[in-house]
Amino acid sequence: MAEVEYSKGLEGVVAGESVICQIDGQNGKLFYRGYNIDDLVKKSTYEETVYLLLFEQLPTAAELAEFTGNFRSGRHIVTPIQDMIRNFPPGGDPMELLQSVMSYLSGYVEHKIKHSATCNCRQTLHQVAQLATVIAAYQRFKEGKPYVVPRQDLSHGANFLYMLRGEEPLPYEAAIMDKCLVLHAEHGFNTSTFTARVVASSLSTCYSSISAAIGALRGPLHGGANEQVMDMLKEIGAVDNVDSWLDKTLAEKKKIMGMGHREYKVKDPRSYVMEGFLRELSEKKGDSRYLSILTKLEKSFRSRMDEKGKPLYPNVDYFSGSVYALLGIPQYLFSPIFALARCAGWLAHILEQRKDNRLFRPECLYTGPQPREYTALEKR
Ligand code: COA
Repeated sequence: MAEVEYSKGLEGVVAGESVICQIDGQNGKLFYRGYNIDDLVKKSTYEETVYLLLFEQLPTAAELAEFTGNFRSGRHIVTPIQDMIRNFPPGGDPMELLQSVMSYLSGYVEHKIKHSATCNCRQTLHQVAQLATVIAAYQRFKEGKPYVVPRQDLSHGANFLYMLRGEEPLPYEAAIMDKCLVLHAEHGFNTSTFTARVVASSLSTCYSSISAAIGALRGPLHGGANEQVMDMLKEIGAVDNVDSWLDKTLAEKKKIMGMGHREYKVKDPRSYVMEGFLRELSEKKGDSRYLSILTKLEKSFRSRMDEKGKPLYPNVDYFSGSVYALLGIPQYLFSPIFALARCAGWLAHILEQRKDNRLFRPECLYTGPQPREYTALEKR
């Protein structure tokens, strides 16, 4: 075998080309198809961002109206899927439910998977449109409440909160939820997106690719850090405990959740936006318990890490859990919400993979035994 370079976890390996997302880790900037995430959060909506990711450019007013109509009419989930959610074992993980539903949905469409141009996923938009409904239905059934039929006059964020609560959210809550989805819609060749592309490279369906991506996102090293930040906040309890808690935790060589990022060498641009949402929600709801602890913890952590010459900054997960908590969303739905937002990015990558496909098939460095004689059973 020719000499090949080995990089554990593919760190530093360029595994593909993409025109979807640019991460400038040195300057803390993030762009979807060339548009700065700050502009998209301020000026766009989740639905327009989905269009941008899937169709490679911002829509005209007519294109957006047609797309939005299509997208919103695809939100409803059919009775067999509602039943599947209702019958999901109470102790089961909602991310695994999402994986199963995604595979099941595949049975409802005709697949044209040869090339992105012929893929009907762009038209049906089931995966992106229906994950929100699945998550809301899961929560409703868990609380013994009935399914809420999605509304077609609400944005994706507003409709999600409406389906969860059974009543319309306040306009500022709806806007924050929708912008959180924009912020999480895409992030380059992360583990789940790479998984989606690997599955797509065998010319499997979008549904199988996304189901696998959800599985990858489920792990605590990828999605789920914001849930751990909430556990950390509960453990700290009050702002006066921050310094003693931090000293003890660092002395035990434990990591502070929501801090640090492989790509960003400065503060994650998404964390600035999330922090703003947390400030707004804390003020409007008159509840600053999360904000006060997180602000003090960031200051103390950063000064300790600066002293050690190891600057570390908040990532998107540092503030996002508290934002969701103040929107009344239970902690176990944080990762599913990440999936519902990121589904747009996964689909964009699947379509891009198909445009110029080559099957992913890396090599591995064999370190096992050399060829040896088979020992008969009675002689072992
Ligand atoms: N708290 C304390 N120390 C941290 C830290 C954190 N959150 N993140 C990194 N460090 C330290 C490491 O202990 C390591 O120190 P060392 O050089 O003395 O061994 C150094 O910084 C480099 O860390 P490393 O884990 O190698 O960096 P990475 O680039 O591989 O990891 C993360 C990036 C995100 C995995 C890591 O920062 C982390 O685990 N953060 C917490 C979990 C999290 O928030 N994940 C969500 C990411 S969006």
